[in-house]
Amino acid sequence: DYFGLAGTEPSSVVQKNRSLLLTEVMSTFEGEWRKNEALFQEMKRDLTSCCEAESSFMTKQNVRVGEIIPNVLNPKLPLKMTKDLYRNLIKDWPFKNRRFNTCAVVGNSGILRGSYCGASIDSADAVFRCNLPPLGKKVYQEDAGTKSSFTTAPLSMLKSYIQMKDDSVREQFLEDMEQYDGILLAKKPNNYTKYMIDSIIATRGGELKMVYEHPHHFLRTNNYWNNHGIPKKITSGIYLLSLALTRCEEVHVYGFWPFPYDDKGNAVAYHYYEAPVFTKDSHDMPLEFMRVRRLHQDGVIQVHMRCPR
Ligand code: CTP
Repeated sequence: DYFGLAGTEPSSVVQKNRSLLLTEVMSTFEGEWRKNEALFQEMKRDLTSCCEAESSFMTKQNVRVGEIIPNVLNPKLPLKMTKDLYRNLIKDWPFKNRRFNTCAVVGNSGILRGSYCGASIDSADAVFRCNLPPLGKKVYQEDAGTKSSFTTAPLSMLKSYIQMKDDSVREQFLEDMEQYDGILLAKKPNNYTKYMIDSIIATRGGELKMVYEHPHHFLRTNNYWNNHGIPKKITSGIYLLSLALTRCEEVHVYGFWPFPYDDKGNAVAYHYYEAPVFTKDSHDMPLEFMRVRRLHQDGVIQVHMRCPR
């Protein structure tokens, strides 16, 4: 445990060590940052050859009817590519031959609150976001921005929409969905995903560009990181960071801070749009974060904690 959260020392010692450590970690992101072009290009090359963004979701080009596609979440329940589902796929990767100059990858940590990073995020050519954060809510816009180009959509959230009984909650969810531009990537799709998506689109009558994650691509990206310092399953944040590295010339990262306190000892919410509660989960986020910090120190990506007002 990096931050004494599960230690046996007296709490005053834990508190002191933790805040010293977090102050040191935070200080990494203050001051000047210099890109290391050679290292950036090397990593881009590596990631492009293993996990090029174009194969990140299923298209009519990269799967065929009848194909059995593994399920990352539950290997016993693979996805069968039915005719019906195939018809629903987009024809080809929409950003074909398109490269972005600057990209923002936005995690959902409470560290975004009070960061004033919204304008900096929105100034990027492409913005990658995780797990359908509530983009429509004005209170978060100054810190988290409003732009989105590529957003992951967890199956559990799509499913909870279908099960929503309360009309106002449902309406709020649809309003939030309407804020999204670009691509919504349905994560870990199964044969029911199509019905959920159809239902959301039918209710709104809008034109959501929903695509289905290609599990092969996630597994390849996960393998890459397993061999590069992240032994556990990667988070959506690292997944999107990897995609961005294959497509963008500059990658800026926001909203990554998987610790319940900031450098001053103030509580940090797990999500910037939720009450200050902190849950531990299946990933090893602190370890992952240290890997992200190393990429920042090495000049590959730039991590932003606070932005100029
Ligand atoms: N994140 C972070 N610190 C937090 C919360 C999130 O660094 N306190 C980053 C992680 O990279 C995470 C991403 O922001 O993947 C999106 O956050 P979230 O929606 O909370 O993702 P999870 O549901 O926790 O995990 P995942 O979708 O990756 O399974």
